[in-house]
Amino acid sequence: MSSMLQVDALYKQFPIAGSRNVVQAINGVSLSIGPGETLGLVGESGSGKTTVGRCIVGLTEVSKGKIHFKGEDISVPRARRPPSLLGRIQLVFQEPAESLDPRMRIRRSIEEPLLALKVPAAERRERVLEAMERVGLRRSMLDLYPAELSAGQQQRVGIARAMITRPELVVLDEPTSALDPTARAEIIELLMKIQADLGTSYLFISHDLSTVRFISHRVAVMYLGMIVEQGNTADVFAEPRHPYSIALLSAVLLPHPRLTLESGVGLKGEIPSPINLPKGCFLASRCPFATDRSRAEMPPAEDLGGGHIVHCFNHRDVARVHRASDTFEEFQHEAERILGNYDRTSTA
Ligand SMILES: Nc1ncnc2c1ncn2[C@@H]1O[C@H](COP(=O)(O)OP(=O)(O)OP(=O)(O)O)[C@@H](O)[C@H]1O
Ligand code: SF4
Ligand SMILES: [Mg+2]
Repeated sequence: MSSMLQVDALYKQFPIAGSRNVVQAINGVSLSIGPGETLGLVGESGSGKTTVGRCIVGLTEVSKGKIHFKGEDISVPRARRPPSLLGRIQLVFQEPAESLDPRMRIRRSIEEPLLALKVPAAERRERVLEAMERVGLRRSMLDLYPAELSAGQQQRVGIARAMITRPELVVLDEPTSALDPTARAEIIELLMKIQADLGTSYLFISHDLSTVRFISHRVAVMYLGMIVEQGNTADVFAEPRHPYSIALLSAVLLPHPRLTLESGVGLKGEIPSPINLPKGCFLASRCPFATDRSRAEMPPAEDLGGGHIVHCFNHRDVARVHRASDTFEEFQHEAERILGNYDRTSTA
Protein backbone atom coordinates (compact mmCIF):
# COMPACT_ATOMS: atom_id res chain seq x y z
CA MET A 1 0.00 0.00 0.00
CA SER A 2 1.51 3.38 -0.98
CA SER A 3 1.59 5.67 2.00
CA MET A 4 -0.51 8.76 2.49
CA LEU A 5 1.39 9.72 5.62
CA GLN A 6 5.03 8.91 6.25
CA VAL A 7 6.72 9.79 9.54
CA ASP A 8 10.49 9.24 9.69
CA ALA A 9 12.68 9.32 12.81
CA LEU A 10 10.51 11.90 14.58
CA TYR A 11 11.81 13.53 17.79
CA LYS A 12 10.11 16.00 20.09
CA GLN A 13 11.67 17.60 23.13
CA PHE A 14 9.77 19.97 25.40
CA PRO A 15 11.79 22.55 27.35
CA ILE A 16 11.23 22.65 31.12
CA ALA A 17 10.79 26.17 32.45
CA GLY A 18 13.69 27.26 34.65
CA SER A 19 15.80 24.19 33.80
CA ARG A 20 18.34 23.14 31.19
CA ASN A 21 16.72 19.73 31.05
CA VAL A 22 14.13 18.77 28.46
CA VAL A 23 11.30 16.24 28.34
CA GLN A 24 12.28 13.75 25.64
CA ALA A 25 8.71 13.02 24.66
CA ILE A 26 9.26 11.44 21.20
CA ASN A 27 12.44 9.53 20.50
CA GLY A 28 12.66 8.38 16.90
CA VAL A 29 9.14 7.44 15.82
CA SER A 30 8.70 6.10 12.29
CA LEU A 31 5.32 5.05 10.94
CA SER A 32 3.21 5.19 7.82
CA ILE A 33 -0.50 5.19 7.07
CA GLY A 34 -1.93 4.13 3.71
CA PRO A 35 -5.04 5.51 1.97
CA GLY A 36 -8.21 4.30 3.67
CA GLU A 37 -6.17 2.65 6.42
CA THR A 38 -6.47 2.89 10.21
CA LEU A 39 -3.31 2.75 12.28
CA GLY A 40 -4.01 2.20 15.98
CA LEU A 41 -1.54 3.85 18.36
CA VAL A 42 -1.45 2.34 21.85
CA GLY A 43 0.73 2.69 24.94
CA GLU A 44 0.56 3.76 28.56
CA SER A 45 -0.23 7.28 29.65
CA GLY A 46 2.70 9.59 28.88
CA SER A 47 4.18 7.34 26.18
CA GLY A 48 3.83 10.13 23.60
CA LYS A 49 0.71 9.21 21.58
CA THR A 50 -0.89 12.65 21.68
CA THR A 51 2.42 14.37 20.90
CA VAL A 52 2.82 12.23 17.76
CA GLY A 53 -0.75 13.14 16.71
CA ARG A 54 -0.20 16.83 17.36
CA CYS A 55 3.05 16.87 15.35
CA ILE A 56 1.18 15.28 12.43
CA VAL A 57 -1.65 17.86 12.46
CA GLY A 58 0.93 20.63 12.99
CA LEU A 59 -0.17 21.80 16.45
CA THR A 60 3.19 20.84 17.99
CA GLU A 61 6.50 21.79 16.41
CA VAL A 62 8.76 18.87 15.45
CA SER A 63 12.27 18.92 17.04
CA LYS A 64 13.85 16.56 14.49
CA GLY A 65 12.71 14.14 11.78
CA LYS A 66 10.37 14.34 8.82
CA ILE A 67 6.65 14.08 8.19
CA HIS A 68 5.44 13.71 4.60
CA PHE A 69 1.81 13.84 3.50
CA LYS A 70 1.28 12.50 -0.05
CA GLY A 71 4.96 13.18 -0.74
CA GLU A 72 4.85 16.77 0.54
CA ASP A 73 7.09 17.74 3.46
CA ILE A 74 4.82 18.87 6.33
CA SER A 75 7.39 18.79 9.15
CA VAL A 76 6.48 22.36 10.10
CA PRO A 77 3.67 23.76 12.27
CA ARG A 78 0.24 24.27 10.76
CA ALA A 79 0.66 28.02 10.24
CA ARG A 80 3.71 27.44 8.01
CA ARG A 81 2.17 24.67 5.91
CA PRO A 82 1.08 25.45 2.33
CA PRO A 83 -2.52 26.78 2.09
CA SER A 84 -3.33 23.89 -0.26
CA LEU A 85 -3.09 21.59 2.80
CA LEU A 86 -5.77 23.44 4.79
CA GLY A 87 -8.44 21.07 6.05
CA ARG A 88 -6.83 17.93 4.59
CA ILE A 89 -5.53 16.64 7.94
CA GLN A 90 -7.99 17.02 10.80
CA LEU A 91 -8.10 16.20 14.51
CA VAL A 92 -10.85 14.84 16.75
CA PHE A 93 -10.28 15.22 20.50
CA GLN A 94 -11.15 12.93 23.40
CA GLU A 95 -13.43 15.45 25.06
CA PRO A 96 -15.87 16.98 22.58
CA ALA A 97 -15.94 19.93 24.98
CA GLU A 98 -12.31 20.65 23.97
CA SER A 99 -13.26 21.31 20.36
CA LEU A 100 -16.77 22.76 20.88
CA ASP A 101 -17.27 26.30 22.12
CA PRO A 102 -20.10 26.10 24.71
CA ARG A 103 -21.43 29.49 23.53
CA MET A 104 -21.56 28.48 19.88
CA ARG A 105 -24.59 26.84 18.31
CA ILE A 106 -24.02 23.44 16.67
CA ARG A 107 -24.50 24.88 13.17
CA ARG A 108 -21.69 27.35 13.71
CA SER A 109 -19.35 24.78 15.33
CA ILE A 110 -19.65 22.44 12.37
CA GLU A 111 -19.37 25.22 9.80
CA GLU A 112 -16.33 26.95 11.33
CA PRO A 113 -13.50 25.02 9.56
CA LEU A 114 -15.01 26.08 6.20
CA LEU A 115 -14.57 29.78 7.04
CA ALA A 116 -10.77 29.45 6.86
CA LEU A 117 -11.21 27.79 3.47
CA LYS A 118 -13.36 30.76 2.33
CA VAL A 119 -16.20 28.52 1.20
CA PRO A 120 -19.22 30.67 0.12
CA ALA A 121 -22.17 30.86 2.54
CA ALA A 122 -24.64 28.90 0.39
CA GLU A 123 -22.19 26.02 -0.01
CA ARG A 124 -21.37 26.13 3.71
CA ARG A 125 -25.05 25.70 4.58
CA GLU A 126 -25.34 22.73 2.26
CA ARG A 127 -22.18 21.10 3.58
CA VAL A 128 -23.29 21.52 7.20
CA LEU A 129 -26.49 19.62 6.40
CA GLU A 130 -24.53 16.94 4.55
CA ALA A 131 -22.11 16.56 7.49
CA MET A 132 -25.01 16.40 10.00
CA GLU A 133 -26.62 13.64 7.98
CA ARG A 134 -23.34 11.75 7.62
CA VAL A 135 -22.84 11.60 11.38
CA GLY A 136 -26.49 10.80 12.14
CA LEU A 137 -27.56 14.09 13.76
CA ARG A 138 -31.04 15.54 13.24
CA ARG A 139 -31.42 18.95 11.56
CA SER A 140 -33.45 20.11 14.53
CA MET A 141 -30.19 20.09 16.54
CA LEU A 142 -28.56 22.79 14.41
CA ASP A 143 -29.61 25.64 16.66
CA LEU A 144 -28.89 23.91 19.96
CA TYR A 145 -25.84 24.52 22.16
CA PRO A 146 -23.37 21.70 23.04
CA ALA A 147 -24.71 21.44 26.62
CA GLU A 148 -28.10 20.44 25.22
CA LEU A 149 -26.63 17.31 23.60
CA SER A 150 -25.52 13.97 25.07
CA ALA A 151 -21.78 13.14 25.13
CA GLY A 152 -22.24 10.81 22.16
CA GLN A 153 -24.07 13.51 20.17
CA GLN A 154 -21.36 16.04 21.07
CA GLN A 155 -18.73 13.68 19.73
CA ARG A 156 -20.76 13.32 16.52
CA VAL A 157 -20.60 17.11 16.21
CA GLY A 158 -16.82 16.90 16.75
CA ILE A 159 -16.59 14.34 13.95
CA ALA A 160 -18.88 16.37 11.64
CA ARG A 161 -16.68 19.41 12.27
CA ALA A 162 -13.54 17.44 11.35
CA MET A 163 -15.15 15.79 8.32
CA ILE A 164 -16.71 18.90 6.83
CA THR A 165 -13.44 19.86 5.10
CA ARG A 166 -13.38 16.36 3.50
CA PRO A 167 -10.01 15.47 5.03
CA GLU A 168 -7.90 12.62 3.73
CA LEU A 169 -6.40 11.92 7.16
CA VAL A 170 -7.98 12.30 10.59
CA VAL A 171 -6.08 11.97 13.87
CA LEU A 172 -8.55 10.61 16.44
CA ASP A 173 -7.14 11.14 19.94
CA GLU A 174 -9.06 8.89 22.33
CA PRO A 175 -12.33 9.77 20.58
CA THR A 176 -14.42 7.29 22.54
CA SER A 177 -12.82 7.27 26.01
CA ALA A 178 -15.30 9.74 27.48
CA LEU A 179 -18.34 7.77 26.24
CA ASP A 180 -20.48 5.01 27.68
CA PRO A 181 -20.24 1.59 25.97
CA THR A 182 -23.28 2.07 23.73
CA ALA A 183 -22.23 5.52 22.52
CA ARG A 184 -18.68 4.20 22.09
CA ALA A 185 -19.83 1.35 19.86
CA GLU A 186 -22.00 3.74 17.81
CA ILE A 187 -19.12 6.17 17.26
CA ILE A 188 -16.80 3.34 16.23
CA GLU A 189 -19.35 2.06 13.74
CA LEU A 190 -19.82 5.61 12.43
CA LEU A 191 -16.07 6.09 11.95
CA MET A 192 -15.82 2.78 10.10
CA LYS A 193 -18.76 3.70 7.85
CA ILE A 194 -17.22 7.08 7.03
CA GLN A 195 -13.98 5.33 6.14
CA ALA A 196 -15.78 2.80 3.94
CA ASP A 197 -17.72 5.58 2.14
CA LEU A 198 -14.99 8.19 1.79
CA GLY A 199 -11.70 6.28 2.06
CA THR A 200 -10.46 8.50 4.92
CA SER A 201 -7.25 7.39 6.68
CA TYR A 202 -7.17 7.39 10.48
CA LEU A 203 -4.54 7.55 13.19
CA PHE A 204 -6.58 6.09 16.04
CA ILE A 205 -5.06 6.82 19.45
CA SER A 206 -6.52 4.86 22.35
CA HIS A 207 -5.96 3.09 25.65
CA ASP A 208 -8.84 0.80 24.86
CA LEU A 209 -7.27 -2.24 23.25
CA SER A 210 -10.59 -3.88 22.36
CA THR A 211 -11.58 -0.86 20.31
CA VAL A 212 -8.15 -0.68 18.70
CA ARG A 213 -8.32 -4.38 17.83
CA PHE A 214 -11.72 -3.83 16.25
CA ILE A 215 -11.09 -0.68 14.20
CA SER A 216 -7.40 -0.80 13.21
CA HIS A 217 -5.82 -2.47 10.20
CA ARG A 218 -2.40 -2.04 11.74
CA VAL A 219 -1.27 -1.20 15.23
CA ALA A 220 1.81 0.49 16.74
CA VAL A 221 2.80 0.07 20.40
CA MET A 222 4.52 3.05 22.06
CA TYR A 223 6.79 3.08 25.10
CA LEU A 224 8.69 6.17 26.29
CA GLY A 225 8.35 8.00 22.99
CA MET A 226 9.35 5.05 20.80
CA ILE A 227 7.34 2.58 18.78
CA VAL A 228 8.62 -0.76 20.07
CA GLU A 229 6.46 -2.96 17.84
CA GLN A 230 4.11 -2.46 14.91
CA GLY A 231 2.39 -4.59 12.32
CA ASN A 232 -0.95 -5.93 11.15
CA THR A 233 -3.34 -5.80 14.07
CA ALA A 234 -4.08 -9.52 13.93
CA ASP A 235 -0.34 -10.38 14.01
CA VAL A 236 0.56 -8.03 16.86
CA PHE A 237 -2.42 -9.06 19.00
CA ALA A 238 -2.05 -12.79 18.33
CA GLU A 239 1.76 -13.01 18.40
CA PRO A 240 3.26 -9.99 20.14
CA ARG A 241 7.04 -10.22 20.06
CA HIS A 242 8.17 -7.30 22.21
CA PRO A 243 8.10 -7.87 25.99
CA TYR A 244 6.40 -4.49 26.46
CA SER A 245 3.58 -5.32 24.01
CA ILE A 246 2.99 -8.62 25.80
CA ALA A 247 2.85 -6.85 29.16
CA LEU A 248 0.51 -4.17 27.78
CA LEU A 249 -1.85 -6.73 26.29
CA SER A 250 -1.84 -8.66 29.55
CA ALA A 251 -2.43 -5.66 31.76
CA VAL A 252 -5.42 -4.07 33.40
CA LEU A 253 -6.25 -2.02 30.32
CA LEU A 254 -8.55 -4.77 29.15
CA PRO A 255 -12.19 -3.80 29.61
CA HIS A 256 -13.41 -7.27 30.48
CA PRO A 257 -12.42 -8.89 33.79
CA ARG A 258 -12.58 -12.38 32.29
CA LEU A 259 -9.91 -11.37 29.82
CA THR A 260 -6.99 -10.82 32.12
CA LEU A 261 -4.53 -12.58 29.88
CA GLU A 262 -2.04 -14.99 31.27
CA SER A 263 1.48 -14.22 30.26
CA GLY A 264 4.95 -15.42 31.17
CA VAL A 265 6.22 -11.87 30.76
CA GLY A 266 5.97 -9.55 33.73
CA LEU A 267 7.68 -6.18 33.94
CA LYS A 268 9.18 -4.95 37.18
CA GLY A 269 10.00 -1.48 38.45
CA GLU A 270 9.06 2.01 37.39
CA ILE A 271 9.06 3.62 33.94
CA PRO A 272 12.28 5.67 33.56
CA SER A 273 11.84 9.44 33.44
CA PRO A 274 11.62 10.99 29.96
CA ILE A 275 13.89 13.74 31.34
CA ASN A 276 16.69 11.26 32.01
CA LEU A 277 16.41 8.38 29.57
CA PRO A 278 18.63 5.34 30.09
CA LYS A 279 21.36 4.22 27.72
CA GLY A 280 20.48 1.20 25.57
CA CYS A 281 16.96 -0.25 25.38
CA PHE A 282 14.50 1.89 27.36
CA LEU A 283 12.86 -1.27 28.76
CA ALA A 284 16.09 -2.85 30.04
CA SER A 285 15.60 -1.89 33.71
CA ARG A 286 12.18 -3.59 33.73
CA CYS A 287 12.56 -6.43 31.24
CA PRO A 288 13.01 -10.09 32.29
CA PHE A 289 14.86 -10.77 28.99
CA ALA A 290 17.40 -7.95 29.36
CA THR A 291 21.06 -8.73 28.62
CA ASP A 292 24.28 -6.70 28.85
CA ARG A 293 23.81 -5.87 25.18
CA SER A 294 20.32 -4.43 25.67
CA ARG A 295 21.57 -2.38 28.63
CA ALA A 296 24.27 -0.86 26.38
CA GLU A 297 22.70 -0.58 22.91
CA MET A 298 19.35 0.52 21.51
CA PRO A 299 17.83 -2.41 19.57
CA PRO A 300 17.23 -1.56 15.91
CA ALA A 301 14.01 -2.22 13.98
CA GLU A 302 13.76 -5.80 12.75
CA ASP A 303 11.15 -6.87 10.21
CA LEU A 304 9.74 -10.29 11.09
CA GLY A 305 7.87 -10.40 7.77
CA GLY A 306 4.66 -8.83 6.52
CA GLY A 307 5.58 -5.47 8.04
CA HIS A 308 5.64 -6.87 11.60
CA ILE A 309 8.46 -4.78 13.03
CA VAL A 310 9.94 -5.23 16.49
CA HIS A 311 12.73 -3.42 18.36
CA CYS A 312 14.15 -6.14 20.61
CA PHE A 313 17.44 -8.04 20.46
CA ASN A 314 15.87 -11.09 22.04
CA HIS A 315 12.52 -11.41 20.29
CA ARG A 316 13.27 -15.05 19.39
CA ASP A 317 13.66 -15.92 23.08
CA VAL A 318 10.48 -13.97 23.82
CA ALA A 319 8.65 -15.99 21.14
CA ARG A 320 9.83 -19.26 22.67
CA VAL A 321 8.54 -18.32 26.11
CA HIS A 322 5.40 -16.60 24.98
CA ARG A 323 3.65 -18.78 22.42
CA ALA A 324 0.59 -17.42 20.63
CA SER A 325 -2.21 -18.52 22.91
CA ASP A 326 -5.88 -19.23 22.61
CA THR A 327 -6.42 -16.48 25.13
CA PHE A 328 -5.44 -13.90 22.57
CA GLU A 329 -7.92 -15.36 20.13
CA GLU A 330 -10.56 -15.21 22.84
CA PHE A 331 -9.65 -11.58 23.39
CA GLN A 332 -10.23 -10.84 19.73
CA HIS A 333 -13.62 -12.55 19.76
CA GLU A 334 -14.57 -10.68 22.90
CA ALA A 335 -13.62 -7.37 21.27
CA GLU A 336 -15.83 -8.18 18.33
CA ARG A 337 -18.67 -9.22 20.63
CA ILE A 338 -18.43 -6.07 22.76
CA LEU A 339 -18.26 -3.72 19.82
CA GLY A 340 -20.20 -5.60 17.19
CA ASN A 341 -23.37 -6.75 18.91
CA TYR A 342 -24.72 -3.71 20.61
CA ASP A 343 -28.31 -2.65 20.09
CA ARG A 344 -28.25 -1.01 16.66
CA THR A 345 -31.81 0.20 17.03
CA SER A 346 -30.75 2.92 19.48
CA THR A 347 -29.97 6.23 17.78
CA ALA A 348 -28.37 9.52 18.69
N1 LIG B 1 3.44 20.84 26.29
C1 LIG B 1 4.21 20.02 26.98
N2 LIG B 1 5.22 20.48 27.76
C2 LIG B 1 6.02 19.63 28.45
N3 LIG B 1 5.90 18.30 28.42
C3 LIG B 1 4.91 17.77 27.67
C4 LIG B 1 4.01 18.60 26.92
N4 LIG B 1 3.12 17.80 26.25
C5 LIG B 1 3.45 16.53 26.60
N5 LIG B 1 4.52 16.52 27.44
C6 LIG B 1 5.18 15.32 28.00
O1 LIG B 1 5.49 14.47 26.91
C7 LIG B 1 5.29 13.11 27.26
C8 LIG B 1 4.28 12.50 26.31
O2 LIG B 1 2.99 13.06 26.56
P1 LIG B 1 1.70 12.71 25.70
O3 LIG B 1 0.60 13.61 26.15
O4 LIG B 1 2.06 12.76 24.25
O5 LIG B 1 1.42 11.19 26.13
P2 LIG B 1 0.14 10.29 25.84
O6 LIG B 1 0.68 8.95 25.43
O7 LIG B 1 -0.79 10.96 24.90
O8 LIG B 1 -0.50 10.16 27.29
P3 LIG B 1 -2.06 9.94 27.69
O9 LIG B 1 -2.35 8.50 27.40
O10 LIG B 1 -2.07 10.26 29.15
O11 LIG B 1 -2.89 10.89 26.88
C9 LIG B 1 4.85 13.11 28.72
O12 LIG B 1 6.01 12.90 29.51
C10 LIG B 1 4.28 14.50 28.91
O13 LIG B 1 4.41 14.90 30.25
S1 SF4 C 1 16.16 -5.46 23.83
FE1 SF4 C 1 16.53 -6.48 25.78
S2 SF4 C 1 15.71 -5.13 27.36
FE2 SF4 C 1 14.92 -4.41 25.39
S3 SF4 C 1 12.93 -5.38 25.23
FE3 SF4 C 1 14.39 -6.71 24.19
S4 SF4 C 1 15.09 -8.18 25.75
FE4 SF4 C 1 14.08 -6.50 26.83
MG1 LIG D 1 -2.78 11.57 25.09
